[in-house]
Amino acid sequence: MVSRVIPVEPFDLVVFGGTGDLARRKILPALYRRYCAGQMGGDSRVIGAARAEMDAAGYRDFVRKAVLESEGGTAAGRGGLEDFLKLLSYVTLDGRGTRGWPELAANLRAGVVRAFYFSVGPGLFGDLAQRLHRYDLGDDEARIVVEKPFGHDLRSARELNRVLAENFDERQIYRIDHYLGKETVQNLMAVRFGNTMFEPLWNGHYVDHIQITVAEAGGVDGRGEYYDRAGAMRDMMQNHMMQLLCLIAMEPPAKFEPDSVRDEKLKVIRALDPVPAENVVRGQYAAGGGVPGFRDHVDNPESTTESFVALKAHVSNWRWAGMPIYLRTGKRLRARASEIAVIFKDAPHSIFGAEAGRHRNILTIRLQPNEGIELEVTIKEPGPGGMRLIDVPLDMTFAEALGPEEADFPDAYERLIMDVIRGNQTLFMRGDEVEAAWAWTDPIIAGWQERGEAPHAYVPGGPGPEEALMLMHRDGRRWREIKA
Ligand code: BG6
Repeated sequence: MVSRVIPVEPFDLVVFGGTGDLARRKILPALYRRYCAGQMGGDSRVIGAARAEMDAAGYRDFVRKAVLESEGGTAAGRGGLEDFLKLLSYVTLDGRGTRGWPELAANLRAGVVRAFYFSVGPGLFGDLAQRLHRYDLGDDEARIVVEKPFGHDLRSARELNRVLAENFDERQIYRIDHYLGKETVQNLMAVRFGNTMFEPLWNGHYVDHIQITVAEAGGVDGRGEYYDRAGAMRDMMQNHMMQLLCLIAMEPPAKFEPDSVRDEKLKVIRALDPVPAENVVRGQYAAGGGVPGFRDHVDNPESTTESFVALKAHVSNWRWAGMPIYLRTGKRLRARASEIAVIFKDAPHSIFGAEAGRHRNILTIRLQPNEGIELEVTIKEPGPGGMRLIDVPLDMTFAEALGPEEADFPDAYERLIMDVIRGNQTLFMRGDEVEAAWAWTDPIIAGWQERGEAPHAYVPGGPGPEEALMLMHRDGRRWREIKA
């Protein structure tokens, strides 16, 4: 199988915060890889814009280093790095002042797609949007890309939406959640809506419960200041986990088109019940294994911020009423392992008798690593001597099924940036979606504050706090093992 690359139209992409961490680690290497793949042509331009004093040559050096770092020290395999660098320029710019804006305007070309990537803190979104407008840089077709965190709570998210809406139409605003750019996350939709066999069973009559796990092995070192203000609830649950929940629970959209998909996701978020205190567990990793604990990493000995959260959610609609969806995410857990598991109910009656034991089908969508899909089915244990049942996986690891090259998926940012250029908002969050997600998250966080509740300490390298295990045990269920 050879994957098809459809080149995008020529574009000018301005990266505000072009010398920042995200630009260095993700955005610029993603552009380089799309250039190598032939999707971004030599007639496109990337303009870094930031406060740092630098000229184009300096910026090219910066990007060269960034790309080499992300390619593991060498871009020799893909080549073309020096040609790619020729497409770059740089403007020293003050996002809150006037410096650099006329130069930026002079750098932009007429007649090509214009995109402005706000790879800066949300405090600057309004200033940048206003200046783009004032200097007349954003024509009707221009797009802006905004990064998470999109607000800190519902109030601040509304304010951000308001400020952006003053200068841009919703169809021009691309709110990134990089989880939506992950290949397997989109596969979730392909599995659900491209196959007939799952849909009739995709409801609380046949599904016992769903588990969504996004486990990380790493801690928050290096990002302590941001993370201590955010915590796992704001950093992961309100956005990435919420998006996974939406894709697994939504009704089939009429079309794979931006508003069809986003309307259905929004309905899921709005159908979520408030979460009572007893259905949420917060955790904070302790020191261990020679690695400092969370409080050291965030340099705050009093911190009560959570690095882990687990909760039981309910989507109250006809499809899911009464069926729990368990979500958990955390840092410094046993492994980097993310999956969605749909655990079907037991067969209503066992013709094989009680001794055959309890068996159930489980559909697992592995997001990372070893992306793939696995369906556990019950079969007869081979051999003579009665009817004994065992569960075996029908395993479709993409790397095996598609071949290593096909399964060398582009990074989420590669896909999402190309979607911005193509003008396709399907994998981006709409303003009302983000607000609805905050409206659900805010009371949970407010509850912790009101009760003065501290997170439970957990041993690094394990499954998280004991209390999270209890959340399931109480219901006669158990979390799936976290394994890479
Ligand atoms: C980011 C969070 O959005 O997603 C990080 O801010 C987290 O805290 C990261 O580590 C996880 O992304 P991925 O793609 O590595 O699963």
